[in-house]
Amino acid sequence: MYYGGDYYPEQWDEATWVDDVRLMREAGVNLVSLGVFAWARIQPEEGAFDFAWLDRVMELLHDGGIGVDLATATASPPPWAHEKYPEMLPRDVDGHVVGPGSRQHYAPTSPVYRRLAAELVTALAGRYADHPAVQLWHVNNEYGCHLHQDFSDSARDAFQQWLRDRYSLIDAVNEAWGTDFWSQRYGSFTQILPPRRAPYSHNPGQLLDFRRFTSDALLECYRAERDIIRAAGATQPITTNFMGAFKPADYWAWAQEVDVISDDCYPDPADPESFRESAMARDLMRSLKPGVPWLLMEQSTGALNWRPSNAPKAPGQMTATSMQAVARGASGILFFQWRQSRAGAEKFHSAMLPHAGTSTRIWREVVQLGASLAALPALPDPDTVADDEHPRVAIVFDWHSWWAIENPDHPVTFDYLPLVRQWYAALHRAHVTVDFVRAESDLSGYAGVFAPALYLLSDDGAASLERYVEGGGHLLVTTFSDVVDESDRFRPGGFLTRLGPLLGVRLEEFGALLQTDAPPAAPGQRTARVTLASGEAFDGTLFAEQLELDGATALGTFTSGRTAGLPAVTSRASGKGRAYFVATMPDAAGTDALCRIVFEAAGVQPLVAGLPLTVEVSRRGDVLFLVNHGAETVTVEVSAETVVLEPYGSAVLTAR
Ligand code: GLA
Repeated sequence: MYYGGDYYPEQWDEATWVDDVRLMREAGVNLVSLGVFAWARIQPEEGAFDFAWLDRVMELLHDGGIGVDLATATASPPPWAHEKYPEMLPRDVDGHVVGPGSRQHYAPTSPVYRRLAAELVTALAGRYADHPAVQLWHVNNEYGCHLHQDFSDSARDAFQQWLRDRYSLIDAVNEAWGTDFWSQRYGSFTQILPPRRAPYSHNPGQLLDFRRFTSDALLECYRAERDIIRAAGATQPITTNFMGAFKPADYWAWAQEVDVISDDCYPDPADPESFRESAMARDLMRSLKPGVPWLLMEQSTGALNWRPSNAPKAPGQMTATSMQAVARGASGILFFQWRQSRAGAEKFHSAMLPHAGTSTRIWREVVQLGASLAALPALPDPDTVADDEHPRVAIVFDWHSWWAIENPDHPVTFDYLPLVRQWYAALHRAHVTVDFVRAESDLSGYAGVFAPALYLLSDDGAASLERYVEGGGHLLVTTFSDVVDESDRFRPGGFLTRLGPLLGVRLEEFGALLQTDAPPAAPGQRTARVTLASGEAFDGTLFAEQLELDGATALGTFTSGRTAGLPAVTSRASGKGRAYFVATMPDAAGTDALCRIVFEAAGVQPLVAGLPLTVEVSRRGDVLFLVNHGAETVTVEVSAETVVLEPYGSAVLTAR
């Protein structure tokens, strides 16, 4: 189990380094991320490298028994770089330069940036590939975090090349994007620009491809650095830190390119439900590389600096979210950062070693957590398969659908992530194990699969979902799914063209509802009431889709508004399984009720029955973790054993 955090010795004098290593040992730290923002110190000017200081830090850490996650330092180019090569700066949607003075001020496609980054990484990897302290390589930092898209001229050139590679012929682009609409037909690739500020809506196919291109361009930067590190003979694993469900980068594609997944996660301590959000991030990280433990690369010990109000963590809260990560497959718990900065934009951000020193609650908890992690039993790798006793469910999570769904000009404007979060939260409240999958994945191991708003569905994805149901799976598909093909075009024949026969329904109209936060006086229907056959009722938002049964039976009916009397929840047996559809976005009571319907049919049981809502349970091999995310002490029964969980306390049990 790794334990540690980002270490920025360049912000401190050398006497402090000695103190740092002593205190790291006291806290049980065994890994630090080094050099993440040290480009200016490593390379004070082009062609001149200063490794002497880094050599000394590396030796000091190594002598202290502390491993290094060595960063490539390319996330924040030094001032000399933009002074000499201003063309490497990115541009925003209006064409304005995104300037230096902060970090991440580089166009990912800039040839100069890529050359300078390659020179730096070549020098670093050449020097430290064999250094005994290096345990892991940390490429760049949080790719795309601040700059979600770049609209510079180098992005234009690279986008045109990306389109050539994808489509070969310009008429294939015209076909995919439907450019006969609004006289957008292109005669050559050089006529295509990034979707910069325009008078009105852009072509949705172009917006979607620009998202795909941006994710690929960032990934190209990662791959270039990774390949240099490998070419230098480094044998350690290589990673770059992800940011949970992060829109700009399709982490399904990225996961194939990193040796180990690492994630940065900053749930809001002031939000008592944020532990479900962090649980979702952990399950997503585990799912990206099944069976391979991942690292929690960054979290905070306490308050942040970047929300409008940055609450401290409650006593024990940091330990609870750390145990949550371990339970959900992590093999390391690291923080941003080791020692709180005295200067700079993040000086108010908490750290393992607070500015107020070691006579602090945070320091005591950091030392305690180090000891607790070291005392854990040997943990197996995260499980990849379910067994009958511990069935699992999966949520289909798709970046391309996410990008397309958030394009403008839809029946109703909404964000994808809150919807997925709502389904995840319902499954989390039910204490079942959840993986994330793509529609195209092999789904046969799952007792239930949930596909929320799978707006863009590939032919392969549709075939895979169908195979899953035929083979005995239980699939629940929600409103605004199977609407468009991979180019964000309607397929001939209406909507639900791929899944309609499986679901046994036909969809005529989307029936947009008024946004629930619309002004009180706004006319229109905000919610649609649904009553289930059981008598339970819930409210739906966003859509009240007008369905016609075509082989399915109705499990629930709209009982208010335009669609009153029409089916709202349907079910159809197919092969050995069953497919469900829900024609609106249910509230929390509704998602819970629909999960129960699927669970009952699919034989899904909670990992431990009867747990309170603040307690989460997960299983890693034969080790069972219980974590209490609440501020009250709770007593739970597990296999006839009574377990008392203090506020934010956890228990690690051998599962039976
Ligand atoms: C991100 C970055 C860190 C730091 C933290 C602050 O995760 O990677 O450098 O800025 O946020 O929360």
